[in-house]
Amino acid sequence: MKNELVLVDTQIRPGVALLRLNRPKELNALNLQLMAELRDALAILDKDENVRAMVLTGNEKAFAAGADIHQMSGKGAIDMLLIDQFATWEQIRRLKKPLIAAVSGFVLGGGNELVMHCDLVVASETARFGQPEILLGIMPGAGGTQRLTRQIGKVNAMEMVLTGQPVSAKQALAWGLVNRVVPVEVYLDEALRLASEIALRAPLAVRLAKESVLKAQDSNLSEGLEFERKNFYMLFASADQKEGMDAFVNKRPPQFTGS
Ligand code: CAA
Repeated sequence: MKNELVLVDTQIRPGVALLRLNRPKELNALNLQLMAELRDALAILDKDENVRAMVLTGNEKAFAAGADIHQMSGKGAIDMLLIDQFATWEQIRRLKKPLIAAVSGFVLGGGNELVMHCDLVVASETARFGQPEILLGIMPGAGGTQRLTRQIGKVNAMEMVLTGQPVSAKQALAWGLVNRVVPVEVYLDEALRLASEIALRAPLAVRLAKESVLKAQDSNLSEGLEFERKNFYMLFASADQKEGMDAFVNKRPPQFTGS
């Protein structure tokens, strides 16, 4: 599968697909075509039974420097409303399979917001995370005030959004924006390793567990707990639950089939 602005590799590791943003000269600025290709590629991979986890990356210099400013600069409010370019990002958030971001260099504006659509984030030591929209006379529009605030807290989000200044990978780790920070030489390998580990787990359990964790961000505690409980009970209808528990009892590794 090969697109122009998003390269897809389904052979990189068993059960893992790698998606690479591919506008290096523009620091992977997220124009409409790139985002459409990304959404389409993710939708296909999400349905591909050979894929159990996905990794999204850019390059060492830039994961993504934000939404494409050239594409937006001449637009008016009604153009923006009609194009409604960020509305469909929600589809990425609703993917059933885990999506792991492997980021390095610039992670700015829409780039940081895209990272927050992912489930796990591995950052290189050189990554810089920012919401610089304020420097352009605008504000974040794809989760940079809402998801960011839920994720790192009010005062930290205020600092990023109101100053527009980027923070280091170390700071992002301390604020809970990323899972781990590793040397630039290995950030992609580490993300692929995580993806491979998740790819070995029971796919239905991974799917319902992901759904349940995401539910925690959108619901109150009692609704979330009820949702979690039902998903937990539902997994007892799966062959993989029988397999996982039988393997434990008989002291052997499980062979999960996704059924
Ligand atoms: N959109 C379009 N093009 C971009 C871009 C963006 N967000 N970021 C970088 N580019 C392009 C530049 O125009 C430049 O292209 P040319 O060579 O054709 O001029 C090329 O990428 C390289 O950029 P620089 O020469 O600026 O590289 P640098 O190393 O000097 O600076 C940078 C790097 C600090 C990231 C700087 O490019 C920059 O500030 N970019 C804009 C970051 C930004 O404001 N992002 C937010 C966008 S708005 C948004 O994302 C809204 C939202 O909420 C979703």
